[in-house]
Amino acid sequence: MKHASLFDPLQIGNITLPNRVVMAPLTRMRAGAGNVPTALNALYYVQRATAGLIIAEGTAVSEQGQGYPSAPGIYTQEQIVGWKTVTQAVHSAGGRIFLQIAHNGRNSHSSFIPGGGPPVAPSAVASTLSGFTRDFRQVPIETPRALEIAEISSIVQDFARAAGNSMEAGFDGIELQAANSHLIDQFLEDGTNVRTDVYGGSIKNRTRFLMEILDSVTAVTGAGRVGVRLSPFGQYGGIRDSNPMKLFTSAIQELSGRGLAYLHLIEGRGSEIGLGDALHEDALNNAKLFRPHFDGVLLSAAAYTASSAASTIEEGSADAIAFGRHYISNPDLAQRIADGAPLAPYDRSTFYGGGELGYTDYPPAVKDGAIESMDAR
Ligand SMILES: Cc1cc2nc3c(=O)[nH]c(=O)nc-3n(C[C@H](O)[C@H](O)[C@H](O)COP(=O)(O)O)c2cc1C
Repeated sequence: MKHASLFDPLQIGNITLPNRVVMAPLTRMRAGAGNVPTALNALYYVQRATAGLIIAEGTAVSEQGQGYPSAPGIYTQEQIVGWKTVTQAVHSAGGRIFLQIAHNGRNSHSSFIPGGGPPVAPSAVASTLSGFTRDFRQVPIETPRALEIAEISSIVQDFARAAGNSMEAGFDGIELQAANSHLIDQFLEDGTNVRTDVYGGSIKNRTRFLMEILDSVTAVTGAGRVGVRLSPFGQYGGIRDSNPMKLFTSAIQELSGRGLAYLHLIEGRGSEIGLGDALHEDALNNAKLFRPHFDGVLLSAAAYTASSAASTIEEGSADAIAFGRHYISNPDLAQRIADGAPLAPYDRSTFYGGGELGYTDYPPAVKDGAIESMDAR
């Protein structure tokens, strides 16, 4: 077996992962009407069930939290039922699956907001991304509206409800999307949070929204079923902090000691989440930097190869590695890594939206003979 360190079992919270090759959360914009997961989505995840853990795509905790057309939700009964077919299929195939629960905040668009009006954020500071409308049009981003205090506590409750719905849907756990310029990240960083109340200003105040959400979801699920994803130094959508080292050290220290399933850090080189393939050699090594501040399982993601993943585990900088783009085109990625088989290239043009093309039609490597290496498509 190649890269053996990736194939030691790993305990996260209540479950044991048979390997350390994790499928990163990947928004694919292929849910059905009403943002309900479909049989096609179930097939896609089942094909990837040999991952140590699947972290299913960013899923909105409320209609207001939606940001992308045909992205799934976890706030209606139909969505719970749709997700149940996914979790049952993955479990029947021997897999384990968490759901990433998310609120897009300022990266959303008025076409998603119940009753219209601009998207919401800690402060009225616009993103540098372009917006997506409900019907898949790319449009200039809108300036968000700053949330009132009372609205903030109702969003905390939305997360708690989404956590309960995720348990009802059969997920093994949830991951809080606190990375990549989503609403929780918008509260954390002072480039997007210029509030002067208890949710703004000091690091403690900016971390308050994350910690309130964490308390409310762990009360529902237990801490061992909750992971948190952060992207220190990430600048997706123009997000920035004046002192990311201090902010994320402090946030991670607050997350430590709570018996969480894991902390999931995206390396700075992946901050553009799929917009560029470049590896920035000078990027800070988040896993190494922040590991001493967290007492639990650490997942690391972004631009890993099989070799760099294995050496990161061997060095002790992380406990498991999450792969994003390679999982799009290699449903049997864990096996391919174990076999030292070539990886199939992914086709960026089919990342978002559409049907089975570029979604469920990437085959596993051919066994007992030549390993299939797909041509670029
Ligand atoms: C198509 C696509 C969709 C993504 N969707 C999400 C998402 O829903 N939630 C999230 O936290 N990150 C998302 N990411 C980021 C990935 O989880 C991962 O961190 C990133 O792709 C870097 O890892 P890689 O180099 O192995 O692809 C997405 C990335 C891509 C390419």
